[in-house]
Amino acid sequence: MNDIDRRTFLLSTAAAAGVLAFPRALHLQGSSHQSAPTATATTAPPTRALRVAHLTDIHIQPERGGDAGLAMCLEGVQSLSPPPDLILVGGDSVMDVFEAKQARATELGALFTTTYAKHCKIPTRHAIGNHDIYGWTKRDSGAGGPAWGKQYSLDLFGLSNRYYSFDMAGWHFVVLDSVQPVKDRPDAYVAYCDDEQTRWLDADLKGRPAGSPVVVLSHIPILSLTSITYGKHRSRELIGQDTIISAASMHTDGHSLHNVFKAAGVMVCLSGHQHLLDRCSTDGVTYICDGAVSGAWWKGRHQGLHEGFGVLDLSTDGTFTHEYLPYGWSARA
Ligand SMILES: [Fe+2]
Repeated sequence: MNDIDRRTFLLSTAAAAGVLAFPRALHLQGSSHQSAPTATATTAPPTRALRVAHLTDIHIQPERGGDAGLAMCLEGVQSLSPPPDLILVGGDSVMDVFEAKQARATELGALFTTTYAKHCKIPTRHAIGNHDIYGWTKRDSGAGGPAWGKQYSLDLFGLSNRYYSFDMAGWHFVVLDSVQPVKDRPDAYVAYCDDEQTRWLDADLKGRPAGSPVVVLSHIPILSLTSITYGKHRSRELIGQDTIISAASMHTDGHSLHNVFKAAGVMVCLSGHQHLLDRCSTDGVTYICDGAVSGAWWKGRHQGLHEGFGVLDLSTDGTFTHEYLPYGWSARA
């Protein structure tokens, strides 16, 4: 059995046996489980409130079978036992419309919509990624008109606002807009929540159903280890005595958001953008960056990480588990 066949077989096995057995068989990076402060070894296991799949960085395109890859991923998600109650899609759903001309943006949007509708029946909520924003680089795209910028993303994902929240099975979900423009730099973006969004976030968390645990979804990580390990090796990268982390790679308001989250009962923050997998926990808040559905933009593994998606079981007591699952895709030429 070759590696791909083995992975496909394991996905089928995992679907039959329950998701938790699968990643261990693949020796992936293990699971994240945050226990309630009062939990002990003799406490009964928590009761699952709902299962959530986290798909990010799909980057759909007709080239290299990107649409077939998304279809395969969605079939894998729905074959889990039990299947997820909800899918969170973390952005960069189209290959790129940041610099695309109108015809390409229309083609990619239609491909995403039709592929997703054909292969998935699970309720899905979307966040906006940097590659979902149409024609911000006006110089290259020549874009303009009513669907320019984030309006394209809102139309594509059926959203009325770029950030929002909702409640499900006793959990509160917050979806943020990470990607902000840079003054006088139409070809650039930086990661943070603008003032309007930050005020809304504060009020939203205060007004959520009392005591409900919170999941935050953003495209760009709010805190992340892979913001340091992404890309080519760098032995030292400093400005003066400060370590450099790209402002397009991790939220520049991570410290402020973390203070809000730890006070508000946020349990887990999900992101993508890096096409890499990491998790870090501090002050009771866990930050998970999941790998990409597209791997290295449909060219294979990215820095060794398989094309895959995250699965979380959220419990009634506010605890959760997380696994990252490859779905068996093999890159096409
Ligand atoms: Fe991406």
